[in-house]
Amino acid sequence: MRARARGQHSGEATADKETNLAPQRIFVSALKLTDFRSYANAKIDLNASPVVLVGDNGSGKTNLLEAVSLLGGGHGLRGRPYAELCRREGHGGFAIAATVMSRHGEVDIGTGFLPGTREEGAGRTVRIAGKDQSTGALADYVQHVFLIPAMDGLFTGSASERRRFLDRLVLALNPKMRKPLGRYDRAMRQRNRLFQMREYSAALFEGLEEQMAEAGVTIAAARLDAVERLTALIEETREAQGGGPFPHTVLALHGTLETELSMRSATEAEDAFRLLLEEARDRDRAASRTIEGPHRSDLLVVHGPKNTPASLCSSGEQKALLLGLVLAKAELVKALEGTSPLVLLDEVAAHLDQSRREALFGEILRLGVQAWMTGTDRELFSPIAQDAQILAVNQGKIKS
Ligand SMILES: Nc1ncnc2c1ncn2[C@@H]1O[C@H](COP(=O)(O)OP(=O)(O)OP(=O)(O)O)[C@@H](O)[C@H]1O
Ligand SMILES: [Mg+2]
Repeated sequence: MRARARGQHSGEATADKETNLAPQRIFVSALKLTDFRSYANAKIDLNASPVVLVGDNGSGKTNLLEAVSLLGGGHGLRGRPYAELCRREGHGGFAIAATVMSRHGEVDIGTGFLPGTREEGAGRTVRIAGKDQSTGALADYVQHVFLIPAMDGLFTGSASERRRFLDRLVLALNPKMRKPLGRYDRAMRQRNRLFQMREYSAALFEGLEEQMAEAGVTIAAARLDAVERLTALIEETREAQGGGPFPHTVLALHGTLETELSMRSATEAEDAFRLLLEEARDRDRAASRTIEGPHRSDLLVVHGPKNTPASLCSSGEQKALLLGLVLAKAELVKALEGTSPLVLLDEVAAHLDQSRREALFGEILRLGVQAWMTGTDRELFSPIAQDAQILAVNQGKIKS
């Protein structure tokens, strides 16, 4: 089934190929799923406009969004082990094949998990334009931002969730940051293991602490930069729109290295952190883990108009703040890259009152993104029905 191409979007792909300019937006034009969660076989063809998935609970809406999220880097929007994504009654693996207007023009992307590789922690296969690639390479082609119900507790929950949210922004702005993030994490785990193995060799600690200090400063600098850019964009939008449909957020980054970096040069901050790690060895040994560092940083969010920490806001207010943040993130990626990312919004419409829902649809059309939205009630989407592709999802089948 091919959804009707709308005038607004028609010719976008061809124009890009002819002029070699960055495409306006990333969008999926064809998607095929095999043995992916509840889908045995499913195939859809799409145009660049927003996509609305309507269906009962358990019909497969979030599964479809999750498949789309795997066209980018990372572990998908639920962050689950790949083995869990293989259809239970299937052949043991899963496959997602798509044609996508990517940052580098139209490209075929395939990703999957081969039957037999059931062990936890195994990677997925990735093919871009017919060539085997790493998962990290996908981030250079397809960027996405997402909001799912599991993120509802972002402001009240643990700092690690907010840090992950922030690092996804960092990666969206600079996919190359995956390396220092991975390097820091590996070095820290090894350092923690030394404590657990009762290892005292100073040379071993020094090597790992050096890697942690170097990668840590790169991470902290990228986080500060991302928060600064997002803050500037939020401020700009507030000035231009005078309030806007979603309350603006005031962001602050709390962390040892981030604080150091806002006061000193990168070299000084790196030396200071290396020294801190060295001096903290006894304390960390007692705890069997590294107590201080960028792996403990936190993103503090304040409801701007009310000047209240987001954690103390009502659940509706928190949802609106989150949505505002996610849309600002999409807008920032677009401003920096010239190409809008995919926007995946799971069960968002149902939690907004009518005026906010209309404002959300207005923002999606203004940003010109291929937003994927889900809901159980088709009526909720009537204000955007003319400008979107509405698909009905039912027991692993998708119909236009
Ligand atoms: N690996 C799997 N194999 C088979 N079925 C699966 C697998 N993983 C999940 N499912 C099933 O897929 C179904 C659809 O799940 P999904 O989360 O997409 O529903 P949904 O349409 O988003 O529902 P809701 O409106 O409740 O959020 C569920 O019934 C779930 O049990
Ligand atoms: Mg769902």
